[in-house]
Amino acid sequence: SAAEKGGYDYFMLKEIAEQPKAVADTLLGRIDASGSLTLDEVRISPRVLREVDKVVVVACGTAFHAGLIAKYAIEHWTRIPCEVELASEFRYRDPILDAQTLVIAISQSGETMDTLMALRHAREQGARVLAVCNTNGSTIPRESDAVLYTHAGPEVAVASTKAFLTQLVACYLVALYLGQVRGTKWGDEIQAVVRDLSRISYEVERVLATMEPVRALARSLAAKNTVLFLGRHVGYPVALEGALKLKELAYMHAEGFAAGELKHGPIALIEEDLPVVVVVPSPKGRSVLHDKIVSNIQEIRARGARTVVIAEEGDEAVVPYADHLIRIPATPVLLQPLVATVPLQVFACELATARGNEVDQPRNLAKSVTVE
Ligand code: AGP
Repeated sequence: SAAEKGGYDYFMLKEIAEQPKAVADTLLGRIDASGSLTLDEVRISPRVLREVDKVVVVACGTAFHAGLIAKYAIEHWTRIPCEVELASEFRYRDPILDAQTLVIAISQSGETMDTLMALRHAREQGARVLAVCNTNGSTIPRESDAVLYTHAGPEVAVASTKAFLTQLVACYLVALYLGQVRGTKWGDEIQAVVRDLSRISYEVERVLATMEPVRALARSLAAKNTVLFLGRHVGYPVALEGALKLKELAYMHAEGFAAGELKHGPIALIEEDLPVVVVVPSPKGRSVLHDKIVSNIQEIRARGARTVVIAEEGDEAVVPYADHLIRIPATPVLLQPLVATVPLQVFACELATARGNEVDQPRNLAKSVTVE
């Protein structure tokens, strides 16, 4: 009913709008006054966590994209090798797991059969499993050694939005907690990131307030058949997520690529007026990465692409090559996905609407996939 949708036309719009609160709720009570993490519900002892020598993330779809991003944070802050695998592929390749492996199973619903089967397989091999889940008491957390709940509130729209942002926050908390428990040389950085995380809800709010041009752009592209998405570093999984949203909602051919891979094949797809969305990493800190993506944008634009550039406020280097410029707030490098994903959600939702598609119930899809 209209009341359930809180005055929005679709649950998806409501859930996009709820993201600042969802993100804040996921952080709530997990950072103490001194800036230390208190993840009491993670009932895996610090002794066991200190012995972890490999992290494996298993998930599907959007939750898998959260895992791909989490890998950057986990490896950076903990120096523990981290693999991320589609849950549906995981057990079939006989993965190497033992009691020192920490498996993180990410799932909004907690009922995804592929993810459940992956975690059962991991536990049979002696690995510890930590679920990152949005649904209290669902099967995946019940069968795991521990759970860190994302407090996004019920997500009704088939396309995942607020669950994704809170999965990222939860995974960052796990990464920072592992760093804290094990003691890393990144102690000061961890403190700074904790402070930045507590501001992220406000930054998401700011992004949401500037989405009208994104909606107008989406409407103008409603007759297109293909949209490509490019990113580098944590912006690469963001590109994959932007493409997945467009597939499931707008039923368009959408693909995400690591921008560095362009010259290894995908650049052959570029033709006159093809929309290409580029997620530009922060110009601070990783200037090499930033320079490379600027030249990627130049390369595709020279071949006729219509560039839609998502770049931080103050990033002027991209301006000459952006046919459409979407600004996001400057954040620390690893936190950028929390703001960069939001315009892509809005873009897909508006394109679906413009194409007359059912936003909350896309064809052929179910909210929770309980078959393998
Ligand atoms: C996201 O928009 C999709 N509907 C889908 O990829 C989803 O993320 C995937 O099926 C995993 O679901 P889960 O988080 O409930 O396990």
